[in-house]
Amino acid sequence: MTKLAVIALDGPSGVGKSTTAKRLAQALGWSYLDTGGMYRTAALALKRAGLAPEDPAAASFLAQRRIQQTGTAFFLDGEDVSGAIRTPELSTLTSAVATHPAIRDVLVAQQRSIGAEGGWVVDGRDIGSVVFPDACCKVFLTASAEARAQRRCLELQAAGRDARFEDILEDQRARDLQDSTRAVAPLRKAEGAVEVDSSHLSLEEVVTRILALHRAHATA
Ligand code: DC
Repeated sequence: MTKLAVIALDGPSGVGKSTTAKRLAQALGWSYLDTGGMYRTAALALKRAGLAPEDPAAASFLAQRRIQQTGTAFFLDGEDVSGAIRTPELSTLTSAVATHPAIRDVLVAQQRSIGAEGGWVVDGRDIGSVVFPDACCKVFLTASAEARAQRRCLELQAAGRDARFEDILEDQRARDLQDSTRAVAPLRKAEGAVEVDSSHLSLEEVVTRILALHRAHATA
């Protein structure tokens, strides 16, 4: 199989995929695609339209929306929804929306079309397993639930938001369970993916390790 110039970065929520992916893209001069942001924007679109994800019209409704990422901002039919897609309520809704195969089919097709030329770092849950099984470098980024909740808690507190470690940990465990036990495209390490446990690594160390993996794959 010809390998596609894509770094597929999968892993649970709160593991630092997006920060890592942005840094990798910067280092390689590649672009960054945040597929979680696409699912979040899709969930917001359905919520606003009053459409339940199981509604047979949901997937075709979404296929007619314009979901775009510019840098780290997300746009729904031209409107900047970057703030609206990052609320805790929307995170929970998105996790439920992402269990629907017809909705995933729409977004996976868009992701494949965006990344088809290569030169992308793509993060998500099923990138190495479903979206780009032919990616030249597949990484499964993990960290303990406690380490992820601790990081998220510090981030929120630094942004002046109320954050209780126990609440974040509980919320994260619920999403982990839903993302990893769902019937369609469950979160799992893809065939050929290398697991990187970031519990005790700095961002710098994670990025350096993945760049080394990428170089090794590129010259293999
Ligand atoms: O990475 P994130 O937390 O922004 O993702 C939001 C939700 O979307 C999360 O519940 C997992 C889901 N998701 C998915 O099912 N497949 C992807 N490729 C990306 C995200």
